[in-house]
Amino acid sequence: MKHQYKNMTIIVKNDYDNMGKKAARILAAQVTIKPNSILGLATGSTPEGMYKKLVKMYQKDEVDFSEVTTFNLDEYYPINASNKQSYAYYMQQHFFKYVNVKDEAINIPNSSMKDINLICENYEEKIRATGGIDLQILGIGNNGHIGFNEPDVHFESETHLVTLDEATIKANARFFDKSQNVPKLAISMGIRTIMQTKKIVLLASGANKAQIICDTITGVITPKVPASILQLHQDVVFILDKEAASKVMDRINH
Ligand code: F6R
Repeated sequence: MKHQYKNMTIIVKNDYDNMGKKAARILAAQVTIKPNSILGLATGSTPEGMYKKLVKMYQKDEVDFSEVTTFNLDEYYPINASNKQSYAYYMQQHFFKYVNVKDEAINIPNSSMKDINLICENYEEKIRATGGIDLQILGIGNNGHIGFNEPDVHFESETHLVTLDEATIKANARFFDKSQNVPKLAISMGIRTIMQTKKIVLLASGANKAQIICDTITGVITPKVPASILQLHQDVVFILDKEAASKVMDRINH
């Protein structure tokens, strides 16, 4: 089901699997229409199904990534790309090793470098030099973060070093042996970087995302809910499973 709320499009799918498939079809369509698309990519549990579907589509010759350039939203800091908990490793395991994105066209903040300002400036500069991101995939944290832009973020921020919120460390502890091992810092595209992308597709699944999705779409625009700024983006699509959509649909329909 497709709904329009203010300038936002909300697509509700029956389950996680169909949410991922829909997102994959949108991304594949983008690449078909513009083979040299600049793609903004996310990690986490939510887009895994989308990557799986994209790999299948690639194997069936339904999509070709040979001309795309990719920029990931974020990476822990400091971390080496070979570390299994790094987002660079995640991207290889879930997507890049199966498809034909060129190695030199893959961009993930280089968190093995010491000079943080340089990493951040280079990243912004590189995005700008491509002409900007055509399609940005986002997940959302339970606290409303997008990328690692935690509550109370400055909306005007560009790629920067962030201190992870306690809630984020807790949520991401599932990927580490112990929560003490979750890095406390990360490098993330800023809200301004994200808002400058031409099209945004935000994915959310599960009942634990229902409240934050409702606040994001229908609540006040505030740095306390970083994703709420998306209400001001000119082309944003939320793809939700039924559980994640439950509260926002109640609010919109009453
Ligand atoms: C990941 C990212 C994060 C996640 C968010 C949700 O690159 O930027 O904002 O999208 O933490 O994570 P999951 O999907 O694991 O619930």
